[in-house]
Parts: sequence; C-alpha cells; structure tokens
Amino acid sequence: MWLQPIIGLTGEDFHVKNQIIIFFYKRYMKTSKLILTVFLCLGIPVLTIAASEPLIQNVPGRNTSSLNGKWNYIIDPYETGYYDYRYMPYDESPAPSNGAFYLDKKQADKTELIEYSFDKSPTLWVPGDWNSQDNRLLYYEGTIWYRRTFDYKKADASNRVFLHFGGANYESDIYLNGKKLGKHIGGFTPFNYEITGFLKSEGNSLVVKVDNKRKREAVPTLNTDWWNYGGITRDVTLVEVTSTFIQDYLVGLKKGTENEITGYVRLNGPTMQQKVRISIPELKITSEVTTDSTGKATFIFKPKNLVRWDPEHPKLYQVELTCNDRKVTDNIGFRTIETRGNDILLNGQPIFLRGICIHEENALRGGRAYSAQDAQMLLNSAKELNCNYVRLAHYPHSESMIRLADKMGILVWEEDPVYWTIQWDNPATLSNALQQLTDVITRDKNRASVIIWSMANETPVSEARTGFLKKLATRARELDNSRLISAALEIHGNPANPNERIVEDPFAEFVDIVNFNEYVGWYDGLPDKCDQIEWNIKYNKPVMISEFGGDALQGMHGDNRTRFSEEYQEDLFARTVKMLSKIPQFRGVSPWILYDFRSPKRMLPNIQDGWNRKGVICQNGNKKKAFYVLKDFYDQMELKYKH
Ligand code: GCU
Repeated sequence: MWLQPIIGLTGEDFHVKNQIIIFFYKRYMKTSKLILTVFLCLGIPVLTIAASEPLIQNVPGRNTSSLNGKWNYIIDPYETGYYDYRYMPYDESPAPSNGAFYLDKKQADKTELIEYSFDKSPTLWVPGDWNSQDNRLLYYEGTIWYRRTFDYKKADASNRVFLHFGGANYESDIYLNGKKLGKHIGGFTPFNYEITGFLKSEGNSLVVKVDNKRKREAVPTLNTDWWNYGGITRDVTLVEVTSTFIQDYLVGLKKGTENEITGYVRLNGPTMQQKVRISIPELKITSEVTTDSTGKATFIFKPKNLVRWDPEHPKLYQVELTCNDRKVTDNIGFRTIETRGNDILLNGQPIFLRGICIHEENALRGGRAYSAQDAQMLLNSAKELNCNYVRLAHYPHSESMIRLADKMGILVWEEDPVYWTIQWDNPATLSNALQQLTDVITRDKNRASVIIWSMANETPVSEARTGFLKKLATRARELDNSRLISAALEIHGNPANPNERIVEDPFAEFVDIVNFNEYVGWYDGLPDKCDQIEWNIKYNKPVMISEFGGDALQGMHGDNRTRFSEEYQEDLFARTVKMLSKIPQFRGVSPWILYDFRSPKRMLPNIQDGWNRKGVICQNGNKKKAFYVLKDFYDQMELKYKH
C-alpha cells in the first residue's frame, strides 16, 4: 500500500494499528492522498480497504454467524450493473449512478428510474454453483450478482467483524452497504475482509459480483477438462473477534521427532504484545506465551504418550488457543511425513499410497461439492475402494473435505490449479498462482491428512514453465517445510524404442516425489500395450502415478477392445497395475477418477453427453467392473505395507 512508507507501518500493523478507514476513488487518488495525510497528521481515524487481507485461519473454530441460504441474484452477461455506458466501472466513478447494482437501489418514488431490483429477483442457494441450480445457467459463463440482507449486533462494541468466503469462482467484487470491500481473484481459496467500520445493526446489504469467465491469463487458464461451475460455491461467514485476536497459528509435530510439538501464534490488532494461552488438555499441556512487537510467539512442547495420527488411528487432539479471554479451538492430528530414498515415511514407517483422484463435484447431484455431506459421500466411496489416500484434483477443495479426511484417516494431495498451458511469462499469472498456493497452505497447514502440496498438473516443459514452478515450490517450502512437494510431471517416449516411456522432467529435481500421469492403453494404444512398456525413471526418489484410466459407460458391455465398455476399462486397470508394479520406486497411485464428472469437452452422444466417463463409479452411484480390480489390488498392497 502506497501509504505505508509515509507512516512507516508494516503491512499487518498498517491494516489495523490505527483502525484507518480510507475511502478513495481512483479518479481522486491525488486528492485523497492529500486528504489522507492531513487526516493522519490530525489523528483522524481512517481504515484501509485492502484488495485482499491476511487470512483468518480456522474460521470453524471461532465465534461465527452464517450467511448461507437463499440470496437474490441477477444474471448480468453484459455487466450492465458494473460498467456505465462508457464502459467505466461504476465503483471507480465519483458519482455512483442508479445503474450501479452494488448500491442495491430501491425506487424512492414513481418518478425514479431504476432498471434492476434484487428484492424482486429470484434466489440461488449459497453455497452452491449456479450451473446446477437453474437449467438456464448450466453452461453460463459470465457475471451473476448476488445480494443478501442481514442484521448484525456485535456482542461487544469493541469487537471487530470480518466477512469470510470459503471460495467463489472465479473473480468476485464484494460490496457492503454500497461500499467496495475488494476484488478477489481465484476460484478455490478463501478470502476475508474486515467490515467493522461498515456494519449496521439492521438492514445490511451485501452485494457480490461473481464472474466465472475463463481467461488466458487466469489460473487455471482457458482450457480445462472440468465444468466451469460459477458462483459463491463455499460458505459465507461473519467472524466476530476481539480488537486484537489470534489470526493465524501452526501446531505440528516436528519432522524427525516422535513427540516434539512446535509452532507459532500470530496476532492481528492494535496491541501486538499479549499473553496467549495454548492448551492441549488430553496431553496435559497448558502453556502461556507472550507475543513480540510483531504479534508473533513460538512454542515447543514434549508431551509424554503422544498418540501419532495415521490412517488406522486418525487421532485428533483438541487444541485451544486463548487471547483476551477469546478461545479458538481446533482438532489437530500429529504426524510426520518425509521421504528416504525411494520410500515415503509416515511417522518413520514406509507407506504405499492407495489412492484415487477426486474432482470437487457431487456427481449424484451434478454440481460443485461444498458441504460436509458431499465430502462424506466422496470419502466414503474412497474408503469402499480401500484407499488410504486421495488426490484432490485439480484445485484446492473445500475445507470441509480436508477436515473430514483428518477425521477418517485419509491422506491428501492438494493441488494449485496450475493446469496445462498456463501463461508462464505473465507476472500477474505467477502472483495469482502464488497467492492461491499461499492461501491453501495458510488454511490447511494444521491438517494432518494433508501430506503433499502439488504445484501443477501436466504442464508442457519449457524454461519459463520450469522457472514458474520452481518459484511455487520455493514459496511452498518457505510456508511449510513439513510436507512433501510434487506435481504431475511430463513423460515422453523414445523414437528408438517404442515400448520405452521416460520420466526426465527438469522440474523433477525440485520435488520430493517423482509423480506423473500416464494413459498407456487409452490415449496411447490398447490395454495390452501395457504388457510391453518399460519405464525409464532414473531418480532415487519415491515414484507415484497420479493418473491412469479410460472411459467406460456403466452398463455398456463388450470385449477388452471395445472402447467405452466396462470390460475395456476393467482390463486396462488390471494390466496397468501390473505394469506399474514393475517400477522399483513405485510407492503410490491415484487412478483417474472416483466418479464420472461433468466436462464440456466430452460430448460423444449417448456415451459421454457432457460427462468424462473415466470414473470407477458412474454419476448415479453404480460401480463399474474396474472398481473391483482396483480394490483387489489395494487389498494386496495393504497386506504388503501393513498400513
Ligand atoms: C488428464 C488431466 C485430467 C483429464 C484426464 C482425461 O490427465 O489431468 O484433468 O480429465 O487427463 O483426459 O480424462
């Protein structure tokens, strides 16, 4: 922020230290700078409106009110409610007009011309994608305006209130009572804004513009093999906190130890130096730390008889962090994950990751998954397959999915949506990808189930691409050096030997696990081709395969050479697991994919009809023959690895 150098405050201090409220319009930037400087010199309270504010971690463990429910909505493909006729954004012009939807105008008298009305408009459920709620919107890509009204009385006048979104796809502009809070870019990560200075006790009007248009410079970019579900697709929550509160913390088991719990707590507010109590009652830990001038404090505990978290015993401990008599509670599992040569070690023991890929979609409903019930349906199916691991493709899934995986003892791969042909040489694209990675690590760093951060999926090798991915890996390790880094790397053939497949991606040296997708037997020949393939993988690191598979329409039968038959997919799975088991470093696999899923790229009539049919379960919940091949293989691997 340009003002920080003037008053010498750091980012965090600046956001809150002086409760500064700065309302300014781009056109009046010069004047507002002058006004602002005068205000500050006179000590007049002003508050900054940030494009995105530091994330509040563990919203479910705090004092919250839900704004989920029915919101009025207006479809706005020409963005009539955002731009005036000169195509100037209304929220950047000095004289807001009746045409600006964010003002949520009501007709004051019969002479007033207003050409929209949220009150008279239909409603959509929030959270939820719009595509599956109204047939007119199934393929819609553009802007939809959401509005809900609410009353709010603070428990204590000195408290602060934040508005938190679990996610909204893809670009959102958020307004409260006619004031712009900010713009958020990215469809799968949380964001929040302080609204203390804008909140009324009654009749608050919250207006959110969501635009899911795909863009070349976006993350993901224009081309993806999944449905572009738009909307406020995750929970919307009001979080009330004391003026100085616990914004973020880490509590985890130190790598290489069996019982050394370390971490930090970070405050947000005007009084940075505070006492914070950390307790884990079941381990008889209660400790008080004092934060420093930046609001941060670190701690180490060495409890006796700590039960470490693992898939068979997903032990979670209640952790309480208290500051200013306000307690944040969490349920945290303690485990370590590392690699040693070709092995992946969970709590020091070799493990084989028996996985499956999952898109964030409830196929039975044909819409974006968002609820605890959706998460339960998906992870129950993974458990039926005897999985101890899931690859959550190709973007961060909802927090409810990760918290359920913690409870069920299912290990998780989380992925930044750096998918296919990203604009590698665009600085804005890189900062977008870095922000999304930062936000998912901030949100989930205390979740024992999460063991792998994936930087990308199937990205064509180039110098710009590898440089881009290295920056992501560096950021991930800076934020969290306790987990493993990977990606779906590139593979290639050998003209001199048609049966050889080689993994030698330049990014492989920067990851902990050498992982790739392969489609021998579907995009690359027929299933019996698997029997001829030799894998050439020269790395002394664990190797995982994050995708293999082929389409099958459930209930369509034929022989193992009939495309889209269950028998073809069944034979492909049987031959593939045999082929992959020959790789000496083979330590995990997640076939593509648990359920059939919607994709506009899959339009073969009477077979795909807008669905990618690579699921081992179809969209009405029926299992395909390949499901049982995979389960048998996992039953054998469970016996072999005892996990
Ligand atoms: C790719 C990609 C998936 C896609 C799959 C397919 O590997 O990672 O997102 O759906 O192939 O072709 O079905």
